[in-house]
Amino acid sequence: MDLENAARAVRENAYVPYSRFKVGAALRSASGAVHAGCNVENAAYPEGTCAEAGAIAAMVASGETEIVEAFVVADSPRPVPPCGGCRQKLAEFAKSEVKVTLATVSGEVLVTTVGDLLPGAFRNDDMGKA
Ligand code: THU
Repeated sequence: MDLENAARAVRENAYVPYSRFKVGAALRSASGAVHAGCNVENAAYPEGTCAEAGAIAAMVASGETEIVEAFVVADSPRPVPPCGGCRQKLAEFAKSEVKVTLATVSGEVLVTTVGDLLPGAFRNDDMGKA
């Protein structure tokens, strides 16, 4: 399945009564499977979750832990920049060179990588354990 179409489709299901800002994310994992997520807000605002986090949770729940490509879309004035927390979450499951496409609903795109989104990310190796 196409990552862009998966991200656009899941975005429609975003639960955003507070921000009214729908985000969709789709990931391809090592097997080739596509995992999608949308943002899910909460009346207790900090309990809301981002689209990227939802897609990562779906991937892990399916038994996979390696992202090979990602796509994020929102109705934003520029290709939607993932929040800091989501950059860290992506870095947990993706090599630095993994391609990330950020998009607007109207079709503007910015192609970047996990490493460019979060240079110097803290990783498992940084705890000095084998
Ligand atoms: N949001 C995401 O889901 N992903 C991003 O990359 C940026 C922000 C969500 C969180 C919240 O539900 C809404 O967008 C406004 O911050």
